[in-house]
Amino acid sequence: MEVVIRDNPEAMAKLAAELIAEVVRRKPKCVLGLATGSTPVVTYKELIRLHTQEGLDFSRVTSFNLDEYVSLPPEHDQSYHYFMHENLFKSININPKNTHVPDGMAKDIPAFCRWYEEQIVKAGGVDVQLLGIGSNGHIAFNEPGSSLGSRTRVKTLDEGTRQDNARFFKSMNEVPKYAITMGIGTIMDARQLILLANGAGKAEAIQKTCEGPITAIVPATVVQLHPKATIIVDKAAASKLSREYPAEPRVLVLQ
Ligand code: GLP
Repeated sequence: MEVVIRDNPEAMAKLAAELIAEVVRRKPKCVLGLATGSTPVVTYKELIRLHTQEGLDFSRVTSFNLDEYVSLPPEHDQSYHYFMHENLFKSININPKNTHVPDGMAKDIPAFCRWYEEQIVKAGGVDVQLLGIGSNGHIAFNEPGSSLGSRTRVKTLDEGTRQDNARFFKSMNEVPKYAITMGIGTIMDARQLILLANGAGKAEAIQKTCEGPITAIVPATVVQLHPKATIIVDKAAASKLSREYPAEPRVLVLQ
């Protein structure tokens, strides 16, 4: 696991997008694991810039998103379907047929979750998975206490997570109570992980993720077990780390 500290979210995004672009260039038919939340938006902007200005080609890329709220239709402006369309898919040349976001409207959710897992395997597995982190240490919607071996399934959202995400909804009542999420085991199967965090509100979660013991109470700590994981943070999110981390990442050299 490598920890890279950057001055600001823009510099973080440049590195994250470069790591993803490197995979797309090396393997044009790659599988990207994508995330939502405010943190990856800047990385998506940089990927769009690489596409429009430098010709980064997504035409053969397949994507799988981490999660989606249960009972929000894809056209709802807070659904993750809508988010991905607005923040990335509509601005790059990815084939919409090759993009996958869990179906929060699925009638048979367990059957859908099994299907989603099968599609990831059929596509050859995720080459690089982008992750944010919740202030309670969740990854995707794997809340504290989630099994570290879990697969795609429905999860009840923590009250704290609902409060964190309430800023995007008109009222707390509108914030969904359930989500479909890739499991921690599903995420760990990806060949490479990139976890992003910025702002002081993530500092405690990042300290535990990088330096704490591995525990289901802080799901992101499982990243310590991944053979190729890069945690990219800004100075505020790094402010509670106790060790010195090298200023320059080795990840690009080691690709
Ligand atoms: C949601 C998403 C997570 C994301 C987290 C943090 O809970 N399901 O994937 O990491 O929000 O979001 P933000 O980046 O807005 O802080």
